[in-house]
Amino acid sequence: MSDALIEIDQLRDQADAELRAVNSTDQLEQFRIKYLGSNGAVKALMKRLRDVPKEQKREFGQRANAVQDHVSTAFEAKQTEISSGAPAAMTEDVTEPGKRPQIGNRHILMTVTDELTELFGRMGFSVASGPELEDEFHNFVALNIPQSHPARDPLDNYYVTVDSGECAGAGRPSEGAGASEYARLLRTQTSTVQIRVMETQKPPIRVVIPGRVYRPDTHDETHLSMFHQLEALVVDENVTMVDLKSTIMQFVHAYFGRETKVRFRPSFFPFTEPSAECDVWFEDKQRWVELGGCGMVHPNVFKACGIDPEKYTGWAFGFGIERIAMRKYAINDIRYFVENDIRFLKQF
Ligand code: DAH
Repeated sequence: MSDALIEIDQLRDQADAELRAVNSTDQLEQFRIKYLGSNGAVKALMKRLRDVPKEQKREFGQRANAVQDHVSTAFEAKQTEISSGAPAAMTEDVTEPGKRPQIGNRHILMTVTDELTELFGRMGFSVASGPELEDEFHNFVALNIPQSHPARDPLDNYYVTVDSGECAGAGRPSEGAGASEYARLLRTQTSTVQIRVMETQKPPIRVVIPGRVYRPDTHDETHLSMFHQLEALVVDENVTMVDLKSTIMQFVHAYFGRETKVRFRPSFFPFTEPSAECDVWFEDKQRWVELGGCGMVHPNVFKACGIDPEKYTGWAFGFGIERIAMRKYAINDIRYFVENDIRFLKQF
């Protein structure tokens, strides 16, 4: 780079340094005269253009113009700073309150889950949980869902291990294999935890189990491939369908309002007999909304857990928490729960 060009850069750096030290109107005026005045250093630079060798004129001119713009802009900024009364020497006002970091809030599904477990807590239920990565014993076998049942189809489950045995393609071990040999999958239902609870606790049992479940469903306004369920399980002597119905009705009236109508439809689940589906009537929508399934615990389920079905009876239900939240808070698309749109999240 030629000396002339180096000088231009030096002039700019020098002007910057001097301007930084300026902290009064007088000093600013002196700066203006020194650099930007008609006999100032920047003007002098322009005049020198005449003497610069022809082949450097273009670059010199461009740089000199750039420095002129730079110094003028910096000068104006300083002028604004001084006239607005901000202490020019100080670049930051340390006494100003800090910027508040944006703190999020609890996700609506977690709030609803808390509300539900709290409500059932008042009815004497404790809370249990189990692993999301399950084995086929807890997800199917112990729940009386035989190998041939369509619910075990690999296309309807997220299997994560493939057994090398007879059903390798499907990722299933043979029925009756030891628990360690069962293929593993992301649980499709929280009913798995009924088994885990009964394996470790003896009746009387009264638990609710909130948790995530996974199914390879296409996402739409009522389906996600991951959603939440609230499972309930009661096991004791002389437990009947009346207990099941009255508990669910109590819950619905307490959570959605006294006037809410509840309907039980006969249904089928391998792990309950009899089984029902439970719907709730919504005045605003003028239609029934299904909460989920329920029923009296099947004797085979008790047997798989070492509980005597001659002595004990029990009931269970599994309701969709997203569904409950959607109806409670008038949310019309299930995808909102996972889109992470702050405009949705901060409403709750
Ligand atoms: N696990 C069932 C499902 O995900 C729902 C269900 C039905 C749970 C009946 C229960 C029950 O506890 O008794 O579709």
